[in-house]
Amino acid sequence: MPLKFLVSAGPTREYIDPVRFLSNPSSGKMGFAVAKEAVKRGYECVLVSGPVNLRPPKGCRFIPVVSAEDMYQAIKKEFASCDVLIMTAAVSDFKPAKTLKQKEHKIAEKSILELVRTKDILKSLSPDKGKRIVIGFAAETNDLEASGKRKLFVKGLDMIVANDVSKPLAGFAVGKLNATFLYPKKEKERLGLISKASVARKLIDFAEQEAKNK
Ligand code: CTP
Repeated sequence: MPLKFLVSAGPTREYIDPVRFLSNPSSGKMGFAVAKEAVKRGYECVLVSGPVNLRPPKGCRFIPVVSAEDMYQAIKKEFASCDVLIMTAAVSDFKPAKTLKQKEHKIAEKSILELVRTKDILKSLSPDKGKRIVIGFAAETNDLEASGKRKLFVKGLDMIVANDVSKPLAGFAVGKLNATFLYPKKEKERLGLISKASVARKLIDFAEQEAKNK
């Protein structure tokens, strides 16, 4: 069955002024591994990524973005024609209430930065999900399974990869995940330390299986 994958990767940057931004250390490796695996199996794939130091896999359509709003716009546009959305991106939850046009000089001793929420991409798309298969990721330092389960339902997901980032080996921007797969109806799967390439293969296996059942 020909499936079209839409994958998000990397961090987003929320600019405070032209030279400073809020972000996180996401490397993009997880999303790029998923895109690579989808292409390897002969599927069409669109990869939307925040700023990372990786070369997009040959054969996928690459859409580079910067901010959470850019990512939302790109994903929303591509969502209509995809069969599977896999959101590995570490989207910033907040952005500065305003981005200054010029660089801010340190005149004051203290400064308060006002932040506003960004759009929750998965949550805003879930009402239009239809038959699409949607997979999310959750990096957690505590209450891994409870938080993962909450996000699974709030965001209307078919699966979430809960990653325990409390230990150094499976933190942000490292080669492995300490993963638990959670599903709305099926029993959870604790995978322990697992490579990003293996997680990518398992996610595509899951999507293939789900597509057969839908
Ligand atoms: N996500 C999203 N839009 C956002 C933030 C996150 O679509 N604005 C997606 C991520 O790509 C990931 C999933 O939602 O697949 C969970 O992200 P996470 O940051 O763990 O959860 P939050 O929604 O930020 O929840 P909380 O702040 O409670 O941890």
